[in-house]
Amino acid sequence: MHHNPIFIRQLSYAYPDGHEALRDIHLSIAATEKVAIVGANGSGKSTFLLHLNGILLPQTGEVIIGELPIVPQNLKAVRNFVGIVFQNPDDQIFMPTVWEDITFGLMNQGLNKHDLSHRAHHAMYAVGLEPELYASRIAGNLSGGEKKRVAIAGVLAMQPQVLVLDEPSAQLDPRSRRQLINLLASLPLTQLIATHDLDLALELCSRTIVLSHGQIVYDGETAAVMNDSTFLEKHALEMPLSHCKPYCLVVDRPSDRPHPATLGEIRSRG
Ligand SMILES: Nc1ncnc2c1ncn2[C@@H]1O[C@H](COP(=O)(O)OP(=O)(O)OP(=O)(O)O)[C@@H](O)[C@H]1O
Ligand SMILES: [Mg+2]
Repeated sequence: MHHNPIFIRQLSYAYPDGHEALRDIHLSIAATEKVAIVGANGSGKSTFLLHLNGILLPQTGEVIIGELPIVPQNLKAVRNFVGIVFQNPDDQIFMPTVWEDITFGLMNQGLNKHDLSHRAHHAMYAVGLEPELYASRIAGNLSGGEKKRVAIAGVLAMQPQVLVLDEPSAQLDPRSRRQLINLLASLPLTQLIATHDLDLALELCSRTIVLSHGQIVYDGETAAVMNDSTFLEKHALEMPLSHCKPYCLVVDRPSDRPHPATLGEIRSRG
């Protein structure tokens, strides 16, 4: 395993229409680190993640994965190393059935039938998709959350060393979200997770990177930034729910006009 599987220096990226989506990104991520990438809509999270397996190529600066710089001739090796789950599962799922989709990458790896089946079953169970119920379903007919799980299973089955997830909990129901958090917590892989689910970030990732207008404005401990409501507000973020005080604490009631205790008190106040 590489000590620092991801190393990025002076990365900037502008889309063809001239919009500057990333500006001067520097970072290094250690093996088995779990890092949350947070930021407001349009702050550059997805654009950043798309650089990690060469879907977007660096325009300035460099992205090094393992020991390989992201350049066209290294893309095959880099894509075996880094698995990306896209924000929108419709961008990921392209085979007709769930089974065909999850095994597509494995077939390209030339796995024998037995290993292929074992890996695909394992990945499906890991995301809570029972193979008996889902393998032959038409992928395009699944619900948003089911599609997201198929997309995650397809990437897990490839056994990448670095797992990159773009909004993994979006569209998942609470129980599936909990299963996903437990699954990610149990995987000893380097993980980068772009998310608006700050509670998930807090639970899974000891390190958080905050992007704002394409720039890194924070790179450090998750717990510290999640407690800093002024900083979060400045960058259009809100504290995780688990860090918020409930509105209805008795001590917070207006002291000059305490809540009425009885119906009689309400009536007497008019
Ligand atoms: N193909 C494109 N052409 C031009 N601009 C783009 C393109 N794709 C994204 N952008 C712009 O780049 C910026 C960063 O977009 P990106 O999708 O990376 O943001 P994000 O942080 O992932 O947002 P979200 O939270 O909504 O997923 C946005 O301002 C967006 O409008
Ligand atoms: Mg995005």
